Amino acid sequence: MREDFLLDTNLSRVPGLESEILVVGSGVAGCSAAIAAAQAGASSVLVLAKASADMTATDHAQGGIAVALGTDDSIEQHFADTLSAGAGLCDEDAVRKLVADGPGRVRDLISWGAAFDRENGELARTAEAAHSVRRVLHASGDATGREIQRALLSKMLSLEAVTVVPSHFTVDILHADGECFGALAVNVNNGALMRVSSRATILATGGLGQVYRETTNPGIATGDGPAMALRAGAQLADMEFVQFHPTTLYLAGAPRFLISEAVRGEGALLLNSRGERFMPRYHDMAELAPRDVVSQSIVKELAKTGGNCVFLDLKGMSPELVNRRFPNIRDICADFGLNILRDPIPVRPSAHYAMGGIRTDLSGRTCVRRLLAAGECASTGVHGANRLASNSLLEGLVFGTTAGETAWREAGENSAARKFPARHTSSGVAQRKVHIDVGDLQRSLKSLMWRTAGVFRTGTDLELTVRQLAFWQEYACREEFPDPAGLELQNMLAVARAIANSALNRTESRGAHQRQDFPALNDQAWKHHTVITKHDLSR
Ligand code: SIN
Repeated sequence: MREDFLLDTNLSRVPGLESEILVVGSGVAGCSAAIAAAQAGASSVLVLAKASADMTATDHAQGGIAVALGTDDSIEQHFADTLSAGAGLCDEDAVRKLVADGPGRVRDLISWGAAFDRENGELARTAEAAHSVRRVLHASGDATGREIQRALLSKMLSLEAVTVVPSHFTVDILHADGECFGALAVNVNNGALMRVSSRATILATGGLGQVYRETTNPGIATGDGPAMALRAGAQLADMEFVQFHPTTLYLAGAPRFLISEAVRGEGALLLNSRGERFMPRYHDMAELAPRDVVSQSIVKELAKTGGNCVFLDLKGMSPELVNRRFPNIRDICADFGLNILRDPIPVRPSAHYAMGGIRTDLSGRTCVRRLLAAGECASTGVHGANRLASNSLLEGLVFGTTAGETAWREAGENSAARKFPARHTSSGVAQRKVHIDVGDLQRSLKSLMWRTAGVFRTGTDLELTVRQLAFWQEYACREEFPDPAGLELQNMLAVARAIANSALNRTESRGAHQRQDFPALNDQAWKHHTVITKHDLSR
């Protein structure tokens, strides 16, 4: 694997900006980090967004945000539910921080204008899989992420210290001797490079679902943060744990649109192609079993009964409830000819959330000095081997805020100006006769990952996948691409390889990682996190 930058760049010729704090990403974690850094005292916080500032995975989130605010709930119960979903691999200190800081962070969000749905003046709470009480707050029925994104952006933009720069793809971390001093970005509209010099940099780039053919994630979720952190010398942890959401709309020509877990929480049932309810045969909690169990059960049921999808049946729910709680899902399905009050929704699992990512401590620090990470691109160990539904927005708020505060502390301790090395060269940029077809290689990568590193995996398939990815990476990383699509492809190859390697190494089944050749959980050998560096992938 290449150890240096993706572009052969003479930095002294690249226009530069300076900011005390740099945040890459503008979803829930990025906005929370920027707000916290500014509130802690930073006078300049630059936020780079790959697309428009509100085009994030946060904006797509439907179901809600889990938080122990109800009188029938407690921090202890939220803690226990999170550990139980995590299949023995949650880092308990991280979970404790998540559930204990969560209520305060959500109250902040409400004070900044986030309008969660209410019933009789109280915050409305829905049920979701593996939660022992109704604790999931939601907004506009099933558009929770949009409301959280709106409130955070509006708060962030009201702070004088914060500047948001949209349409800038972050190419790489600028680093030397184990220390980060900013990033190199490219304007996606005109290809102009920009160098940002910072005293502390926070990666909050979101997910990596685009490495799979079937995913709920938006097109921007190409694993850029983990890939660039890896190149800069950071560690990745638990990359094999990719969560597959059980119910994604499955219709030819339709987007792989999420059908929120909250729909099952409010009473929808899963039926097979014969119209039979099947989840009670797989788990006591039936449709509300942990998400990994439901996805695996659907795949097993499809193998038994045939067909490409199962069906989510909402007929037992009152039209009033469906219309009030799921207007967005209703309207999207209607665009494809489905009346969800009458027609069962065809669904299948698809890649949804990365439990693994850039390894950080509880303050958001990576092992590269002044490089921090938060949110889905990071791995604190809070989700273990399987994330509890609706814990991710809370994670972004809690760990994003902490990363922002930590970054400002670190920036304060390191106020001396540092010099950029004049040049970053990429070794062996190839003189090619023929250029790579980026779209073609992306499609091949996504299909391969879906077939071999999806809901069920085998050692034989994973070995072939690791070899294939290494082969592709060898030539795709020797090309210097003129636009972000090629740079994204390089990132996707790097994170796909990290997933496949980690999945091959973990010879057990746990949470979202299911090996058909090692179907049992093996605590004795495997009750620990997987940690990899770029050196593990260069062999
Ligand atoms: C959903 O609404 O089902 C997604 C929520 C989540 O991923 O936590």
